[in-house]
Formats: sequence, structure tokens, C-alpha cells
Amino acid sequence: MISVKSLTKTFGRTVAVNNISFEVSKGEVLGFLGPNGAGKTTTMRMLTCYLIPDSGTATVAGCDIVEDSLEVRKHVGYLPENAPLYLDMDVVSYLEFVADVRGIPSSEKAGRIRRMVETCGLESVVGRYVGELSKGFKQRVGLAQTLIHDPEILILDEPTTGLDPSQIIEIRQLIKEIGKERTVILSTHILPEVEATCSRVLIINEGEIAASGTPEELHSVAGGEDSIYVAIKADDEGVPEKLSRISGVTAVKKVGDLDDGYIRFLLKSKDGARVGEEVFRAAVENGWTINELHRETLSLEDIFLKLTTKEKSA
Ligand SMILES: Nc1ncnc2c1ncn2[C@@H]1O[C@H](COP(=O)(O)OP(=O)(O)OP(=O)(O)O)[C@@H](O)[C@H]1O
Ligand SMILES: [Mg+2]
Repeated sequence: MISVKSLTKTFGRTVAVNNISFEVSKGEVLGFLGPNGAGKTTTMRMLTCYLIPDSGTATVAGCDIVEDSLEVRKHVGYLPENAPLYLDMDVVSYLEFVADVRGIPSSEKAGRIRRMVETCGLESVVGRYVGELSKGFKQRVGLAQTLIHDPEILILDEPTTGLDPSQIIEIRQLIKEIGKERTVILSTHILPEVEATCSRVLIINEGEIAASGTPEELHSVAGGEDSIYVAIKADDEGVPEKLSRISGVTAVKKVGDLDDGYIRFLLKSKDGARVGEEVFRAAVENGWTINELHRETLSLEDIFLKLTTKEKSA
């Protein structure tokens, strides 16, 4: 649905986007994750034909972003970073205006607007001025604007920035809902957001792709090891040694003495789930008592930091 080949964009001496390539299949929700200045907005602006790349090509819904930009715009709904809303219009007049700009026939206009009001939950604010609305409702109006021509592809630049936690949940839900039948790229700094809404993640850093994949795949790219905490009581001096002999365990460390003679150990492994089971088995075999066993996996946040800082220091 979207195919990007070696896109590059520089501003003066800043290389905002450096030779990036990726594909987005139909129906995918791709998360663009990266720190400030990574090049997310610049990439989105090229894909929506607001910026012309210095080099490289991209097609969106089969249309070239430079040669065929009018056609691209028909297939795409774009929610820019700061949605340019007309604040002195009421919600319905604004949506009518957008529908006109999008060339929606007047016979279809009322129906489309009604559908947008419904989809984006705008019933309670239809008569209000856009400028009076809370940030969350402004964002909903922005989404309605993005969707009014029923595009197959949505490009949403930080759709939940500045919203309160309950609005964030609502807007994410809305994006998930409208993303079911569409192809979506969204950018965010908020890591749980990609886990909540995206089927695939592209981590972008200093204009380049640092990693791409499902959250699970990124976990292995980052060389993520699980931490397994276990508290064991035993008369056995050889507990640490026996733990380290479990296959897949790369490190064993005593991390504390608990009450009642339990000792807590931290095990490292790439295969934490299986190692957890093996620890249980070892306990049964050796007659140890366990009163704690839990596993911590690397969060996407850890992976993100690891990948973006590794890139920087490389
Ligand atoms: N119009 C412009 N003129 C000059 N430099 C620009 C322009 N637009 C972007 N840049 C620079 O390009 C780089 C990438 O910016 P971009 O806005 O794409 O980042 P971003 O990933 O969207 O960041 P953020 O998370 O802060 O929105 C930055 O160094 C930025 O200063
Ligand atoms: Mg941006």
C-alpha cells in the first residue's frame, strides 16, 4: 500500500531523513517511533506530498508522491502535528468546508458529515465553535477532517499529544476502530501507544531506521534478556551453581537475603519462560522451597532507549 525507497530530505546542513526505505501493507497499523527531531514528521510530510524529497521515491496507493501528488492526496487522510483547524467556525461548518475542499458532491455532504460526527464522537459539540473545544475534542475534529473523504490510508502525526489519559485511551480506541479497514501510519513518542495500537513498529533515529518489526521481534533485535527473580530456601550450598547449570541461563547473582532463610537470586536468560519452568523443576529435584518466582522482560521503552542510544554512540 505504501512503498518507500531511499527517501532523503535535508534542510540546509541538517539531514532530516537519511536514505530510508520501508513498506506498509494493506491493513497494517505502523507505528513511527522516535525521539524529537528523528525525522518522523518530515517523512510523513513527504508521503503526504507537502514536501518534495531530495532523492528517493515513494508510492502511496500505487501513486508516485512527486509525479502523481494529486492522486496520492485523494487516497490519504493526513492529521498533521498541529492540526490546522479553523477556530472561528462551528464544527459542522468546518466539516462542510473540508468536504468542499475535498470535492465531495453536495448530495453526499450531509451524510458524510453525519457519519463523521458519529464515528468521531462529536455529537455533543456539533454547534460549538472549534476554538472553544477542549484539546481532545479538537483532536476528534481533526480526525473527522482526516477521514471525511473516506481515505484508504491514514497518516497521523502524534494523534494523542497533549491529551489527558482518558482522552488518550478514547482516541487510541477510535484509531484502532477506524484502522480496522484502513492502512495507518502514526507517529508517537508514547511507547505504550505503539504497543496498544500498532501491528508493527519502525524505530527511527537521526533520520534513519534503527529497527523495525513487531514489538516481539524488536525484543530479540535488541538482544533483550529476561530477568528472572527467584527466592529459594535450601540447606544446599550449591544453589547458585545448580541454577547456573540450567541451560539458557547466562548469569546468576545473589541479590538479597530475605526473612525465614530465603535467598533471592537474579537469573538472566533470553528464554525466560522456559528457564522459569526449569527452576521449578530443579527446586523439586533438590528439595528447595520457592516463595517467589517472577520474570521481567524488556519493555519496548528499554528497547527503544537501547536502540536509539546505540545508534548515537556508533
Ligand atoms: N522546515 C524545516 N526547516 C529546517 N529544518 C527542519 C524543518 N523541518 C524539520 N527540520 C529539521 O529536521 C529534523 C527532523 O525533524 P522532524 O520534524 O521530522 O522530526 P520529528 O521526528 O517529527 O520530531 P518531533 O518528535 O519533535 O516531532 C530536525 O532536526 C528538524 O529541526
Ligand atoms: Mg514531529
